[in-house]
Amino acid sequence: MSTWAWIKDLKGAINSDVEVRGWLHNRRGNKNLHFLQLRDGTGFVQAVVDKSTIGDAEFERIGAYGYESSMKVFGKAVEDKRSKLGVEIQVSRVELVGESKDYPIQISKDVPNIEKLLDVRHLWMRSPKPRAILKIRSEVIQAIRQFYYERDYVCFDSPIFTPNACEGTSTLFETEYFGNPMYLSQSGQLYGEAGALAFGKVVVFGPTFRAEKSKTRRHLTEFWMIEPEVAWLELDGIMDLAEEKLEYIAQWCLKRCRPELEILERDLSKLESVKRPFPRISYSEVQKVLAQKKDEFAKSSDPELKKLSGDILKNGPGDDLGAADETAISMQYDRPVMIHRYPSEVKAFYMKRDPKDPRFALCVDVIAPEGVGEIIGGAQREDSHDALVERIKEHKLPMEAFQWYLDLRKYGTVPHGGFGLGLERTVQWISGTHHVRETIPFPRTIVRMSP
Ligand code: 4AD
Ligand code: MG
Repeated sequence: MSTWAWIKDLKGAINSDVEVRGWLHNRRGNKNLHFLQLRDGTGFVQAVVDKSTIGDAEFERIGAYGYESSMKVFGKAVEDKRSKLGVEIQVSRVELVGESKDYPIQISKDVPNIEKLLDVRHLWMRSPKPRAILKIRSEVIQAIRQFYYERDYVCFDSPIFTPNACEGTSTLFETEYFGNPMYLSQSGQLYGEAGALAFGKVVVFGPTFRAEKSKTRRHLTEFWMIEPEVAWLELDGIMDLAEEKLEYIAQWCLKRCRPELEILERDLSKLESVKRPFPRISYSEVQKVLAQKKDEFAKSSDPELKKLSGDILKNGPGDDLGAADETAISMQYDRPVMIHRYPSEVKAFYMKRDPKDPRFALCVDVIAPEGVGEIIGGAQREDSHDALVERIKEHKLPMEAFQWYLDLRKYGTVPHGGFGLGLERTVQWISGTHHVRETIPFPRTIVRMSP
């Protein structure tokens, strides 16, 4: 009798009869032997089919199975010092479960056109690189949940259908809800604030939607955000929490994602350097640095830097930072950098103004290295009822929709704040993936709605 085992557990079954269930990932061989490479999701194992033991007819039948055919393979697990797993199977019988002919993705051929591969995303995700990225995503999620659980945060789910905008009306997805307009949530933050006043510390973890017209390597229209919201937490504390969490995620992945990072040929030193403290620079200081860098890069003989120089400070003074600005700043450091106190005019209505200089908001963006850009956006919230009413008016938002939110300032308001971490951009950075669309199983972008 053979027992079914997952490939990762085969090492414990050496010299016994086993059954492996999986897919035919690759194959080679000659006229007397087939070497089948099987994948079951937990690992890869080589199954050796010998014509002299299995017979001519069976040998020929197995030789015709196409890539990604699913099968049950029965045989003896034997030690194999040359393979990573340390085990191979000497096959006595193969039972075909699901035939696969003319699999549309060529094994081992290097990523030719990502959009073409994304057309068959449901199949492409069986290949090593996409699997490695999605496995890292799963570990990043686990790290984040553990991080907050260890620190006594309450997991707090916000609604997806929402009657009001959180992050500006220009990127709202509108839907029809029994005859009334409704929006897909851009952020769970406003609800998280209600939670923070009930529980002290909460974390919202959910899908968010932005009708982004941007076609960049950082933008999705549907992505996942992790949003801690904490009573009594002010800007410095928000920055402390952000850097502690990013260091935790990097350490977690260094510890648990080695095989995946290896498949992706990730330079581990980029993660090892993610140690607190991270640099903290104000928006005003950043403007000065960018002006210097613009001049410096313009004189450079490196064509990439020259091009970057042209794009630096394109938005003009007092405006939000552009992608080139973020890249130029992050190039100066080997870890994420925190930029705080942007002009309040370019930031969201709920951000508290700096009492020392109300032209600026008590906010922070955390910029990841290697051109990934902003992975965290956060702020201390406006906790005064009257100031918040002013902000809602200035931003021309519908006051009725925010009555419940204003209640939070009427009944026991306290200083509070938090941030949103973009899951996909974080995975993009950790895994060293060029485009964010590869960091979610089925991406949604301005140009992609299927599969
Ligand atoms: O900076 P954002 O817009 O902040 C908020 O939504 C706040 N309400 C969060 C809070 O304070 N609770 O978005 C937060 C993060 C960004 O830093 C980025 O990582 C990610 O969400 N993000 C996107 N990721 C992929 N595609 C997009 N279109 C994204 N827009 C934002
Ligand atoms: Mg932002």
